Order: sequence, then C-alpha cells, then structure tokens
Amino acid sequence: MSLPPNFLDELRARTPLPALIGRSVRLLRSGREHKGCCPFHGEKTPSFYVYDDHFHCFGCGEHGDAITFVMKSQGLAFMEAIQSLAAEAGLDVPKATPAEAEREAKRASLQEVLAAAARVYQAWLFAPEGAAGLEYLRKRGLSDATVKKFGLGWSGEGRGALSQALKRHNIGTDQLIEAGLMKQGDYGPVDMFFSRVMFPIQDRRGAILSFSGRILGDGVPKYVNGPETPVFSKRRSLYGVNFAREAARSGNQVIIVEGQMDVIALSAAGFGGAVAPLGTALTEEQLAEIWRLSPEPVVCFDADTAGRRAALRAVDLALSGLAPDRSLKFLRLPDKQDPDSLIRAQGAAAFAAQLAAAQPISAVLYDMLAEGANRETPEGRAAFRKKLLEVAERISDKALASEYRGVLLDRFFGERGRGGKPRNGQAFSKFPAPKTQQKLARPPIDPAAADTERGRILTAILLAHPALLPSVEEAYALIDLSPDCMRLRQAFAQFHASHEILNPETLQTHLRDSGLADDLAQLLAILPASAAPGASLAEAAQCWWHFFSLMRASLNRLREQRDDQHSRHGESPDDPEIWQRLIRINAALKRAEEGEREGDS
Ligand code: UTP
Ligand code: MN
Repeated sequence: MSLPPNFLDELRARTPLPALIGRSVRLLRSGREHKGCCPFHGEKTPSFYVYDDHFHCFGCGEHGDAITFVMKSQGLAFMEAIQSLAAEAGLDVPKATPAEAEREAKRASLQEVLAAAARVYQAWLFAPEGAAGLEYLRKRGLSDATVKKFGLGWSGEGRGALSQALKRHNIGTDQLIEAGLMKQGDYGPVDMFFSRVMFPIQDRRGAILSFSGRILGDGVPKYVNGPETPVFSKRRSLYGVNFAREAARSGNQVIIVEGQMDVIALSAAGFGGAVAPLGTALTEEQLAEIWRLSPEPVVCFDADTAGRRAALRAVDLALSGLAPDRSLKFLRLPDKQDPDSLIRAQGAAAFAAQLAAAQPISAVLYDMLAEGANRETPEGRAAFRKKLLEVAERISDKALASEYRGVLLDRFFGERGRGGKPRNGQAFSKFPAPKTQQKLARPPIDPAAADTERGRILTAILLAHPALLPSVEEAYALIDLSPDCMRLRQAFAQFHASHEILNPETLQTHLRDSGLADDLAQLLAILPASAAPGASLAEAAQCWWHFFSLMRASLNRLREQRDDQHSRHGESPDDPEIWQRLIRINAALKRAEEGEREGDS
C-alpha cells in the first residue's frame, strides 16, 4: 500500500530520532550529534551516530531514518513500523483504498499458491516420475545439496496434475492461472509447464514469484518462464538475488551472468554472489537492485555477439548512474564458454582467475566505443572524439564525469602519439611529500625519538607485508617519518600506483632497483618477530596496530581527522566520499584503540 508522502514527512517530523533510539541504545552527546554502540553489529567502541533525521553506523554502514530504525531493530514490516510510530506520534494512518487492500490480500494468497506449487514440484523431482529430470540435473553436475538449495523441481507430465495435487490445499485452477502456473486453453485450463525441470524465481527475501522451466536436452523453447502476474514482473526480477544478497554481505563478489544454470554452477563452485536476468537484457530496475548489493559488480557475458550486445547494453544502462560508490567491472569469457561450462571444463580456479582479471568499466569503455568507430579519417576521428565526450557527459556525477573525460581523451590523444599516458591510481596521493628539513635523531628517552623508531618499525612491517597497506593507509599517512622511511614510503607509493597486487618480493626488488637497498636492509633488520616474513597477515596487522597505538601524537591526529570528517558528514550526509572515508578512519581507530587497550593490560 502506498501512503501519501506528506504523511510520512509529518510522521518523521514528529518522531525525534535521538529520543526514539535512546530508548534502546545508550546514547552520548557528541558535539551536535549523539553516538552510541551500534545495535546492528557487536561493537565495544561507539561508531553509531544519531542525527535529527537519520542515523548512520560508521562501523557496519547501517543507516536510515526513524521508520527504518523501527523496522530493523524490531524486525517489523514497513506498514507495521508506520502503525507503531503513528500511534506514538498521535497520527492516524490513512486508510488503504478498497482496491489497494484487495491487491495486498491477493499478493499474500498468490505467494501461498506459488510456495505450495514449489513444494509439489520438488517432491516430484525425487519421486519416480521425476527420475529423468533428476538424472538430467545430476548429469549437469549438480549435487543434491545444490538442487535443494535452489529448490529445483520437476513439473510432471501436465494434464492437470498440479491442479490435482493442490486440490487438497483448497487451491483452484483460477488461482493457478493467476499465479501463472496454468493458462486458458481451447478446452479449458492447461498446465503452463510440463516435462520440464523447474527453477523457482525468488525475490530478495526468498519469496517465490514465478518459475522457469527447462526442457531435458535439446528442444525449443529451451526455457519457458512464467507470464507476468500481480507478483511477477520479469524486468524487476533477478534469478539468484536472494542467495547473492547473503553472499554479498559476507564479502563475496557480485557477478551478473546470463543464465540461471550459470548462477547455480557458480554457487556450487563457491561463487555465491551470482545473479541473472531472466532471458531479457539487463534492465534499469535490475541494475539498481544489484547496486544495492554491491558497489562494483562484475558483468560476465559470453564472448558471442549476443553477449557483446548485452555488455554494451549494461554499459549504456550504467553510465548515467555511475558514482564513486557505484561502478561495474567486465569479464569476457573465452569463446563459446559460459560460466557453467567454463567451471565444468576447467574448474573453479580457472573462473577465479578470470574474475580476478575483470576490467573496470573505465578501462573497457574506450575499446567498446572504438569497436564501431572509424578512426582512419579526420571526419571519423572527430566523430569518435565527440562520442567519447558525449558518453562522459552522460555520467551525472560531475566530478566523475570529468575524470572519465580525462581518461577517454588521454587515450584518444595517446593513440596519436601525442603523449597522454594512462593515469595512474592515486592510492597514495594523500601522503605528505617529504619535508626538506628533518629533525635529527635525538637520544631515545625523548618521546619524539621513540615515535621515530616506531615509524621505522611500522614501515618495516609494511615492507614485509604490503598487503596490509589498504587497511592501515589512513593511519600510516599521518605519521611523521624519518628521512629514510620517507624515501621508502614515496617509492612504495609510486610502485603501488602502478601495481594492483602488492607482493613483498616484487616490491622489495623494485625498491632495491630504485637505489634504496641500504634503507631497505636496515629496516628489515628491525622487523619485529611477530611480523616476520613468515607471519600471517592477521599477526602482522596486530603487530602494526600495536606500535601505532603507542604513537600518541599520530593517534590523536587520527581522532582529529575523524571529528573533522564527521562534521563534514553532518554538513553533507549524502556524500559517499565523506562517509566512506569516515568508515575507513573509524575502522583504523578501532584497531588502534584495541591495540591501546592491549598495551595497558
Ligand atoms: P542460454 O541459451 O545462454 O542458456 O540462455 P544457458 O543459460 O546456457 O542454459 P543451459 O546451460 O543450456 O541450460 C540464457 C538465459 O536466457 C533465458 C534463460 O533464462 C537462460 O538461462 N532463455 C534462454 C529463455 O528465457 N528462453 C530460452 O528459450 C532460452
Ligand atoms: Mn549454459
């Protein structure tokens, strides 16, 4: 049911958030805001901030308004949360129109019909009549566990078998027609699906919306999807979204593939984040849903023309919505392979390698645009250049649009031999340049000298475990370093800008080749035992934060950065760059403060 927008505004205005949240979370005033320990993830140091109109946890990223808070903290549905808040605020919830109420009621019952049908299909798959279907699925490499996870079934022979089976649940053919499981034939209602393996199509919460049925072996049509119904809209549905949502939460890469068998094969091979549109080109609604799961999903389409068209279509859809926290990567599979066949032929590791090599949209965009362009004549080149600019212009995030313009034009002019090298990543750009005048080392009793030594140790740990860098970057950038470390940090930064994967051997070879062999050797000599080259990344991280937490000045500087960034967030709460930085700083502070407590005990 939809509510008038002014009602929701009124409700929010009458519900002061600090008071509402303060009932269940102990809040402390912090400047103009309140903060406390986040009720949505276990934490001991507060990173949950409450503003007048919204809340935001810089630890886990949970955020929202009064309504979402009540829904999330009490597990209520949207309307239930509204009812509860309205009662407290002394407001009457506008009544649903009869048509709306009927639609709501129908929704519930259609979903019951679909769930009952799914149970029947699943039972049939494991009954004698489903033997051929089960054998087909097994031949395609699916284990029983995978078959059960995806709720696969067998549609039976048709001739009203489903309706017969559902009669005792009081489900009639009219309801089966509405649910898209039967259709009106010349001689009465007939089954929509027969002699097919059945794939339930679920929404993000796992409720069944419809089915897709595959014929055994070759035959046309290969897949039949249910028709549009009050609960099923093909353009809004994504196969696998319920599983991918969970997987994405636990850190899996979200992957967009073409078919449901690809989703299933990927899941069975350990790539739980796959989703597929249902036999149509990716739609705007689907992409929006995918971006809710992950800021940078990988689009994985076949190498054939249809796949290429699908990839182009994804770029086209994505462009206007691109933002620093909303992008895409692209993966083109070897000819004639889809993820399912690739994994079957070469194994999960081969797919993982493909996935690791997926290219960001900024890197593939130029080639995609160049494919159809004539770049031989001045006219053709002028037209191509215009197209590049138009494409960049379509990005509505202004800062990002200008970055894209730069990248595309660099490449355009670069191809002509007029310079224009590709731009490097800017991971280290916030590191201060070395100061020309450095303090000289003083006797070690001096706290500043002790910090200098700690800075050398922290640098040494990073040289031995460069993979730590992304998680300590915010803190490391704030440390005053001795000149030898400054030199290394700079060389390290340059190296990092051009190398995605930081591996200690390559890094150290690079530093030696840059004439820093002596500095490097001296630093590696002071490496603490718990961060020795053989130590795990977790051990090395613990050691790093321990030393950092002893550096009071830097620790305080990190806290200042947090406060500063925090008031900037108060001013522009929607700026993703600000809150992502805050999340990183808070994560760093948390580690540092844990290190501090360990030091005390
Ligand atoms: P593909 O033809 O690439 O099939 O269709 P596939 O996914 O590799 O299927 P298998 O491996 O042969 O079983 C990709 C997707 O397009 C839709 C389906 O959703 C399918 O997964 N499709 C395909 C249809 O809707 N109808 C069809 O007749 C064929
Ligand atoms: Mn396939």
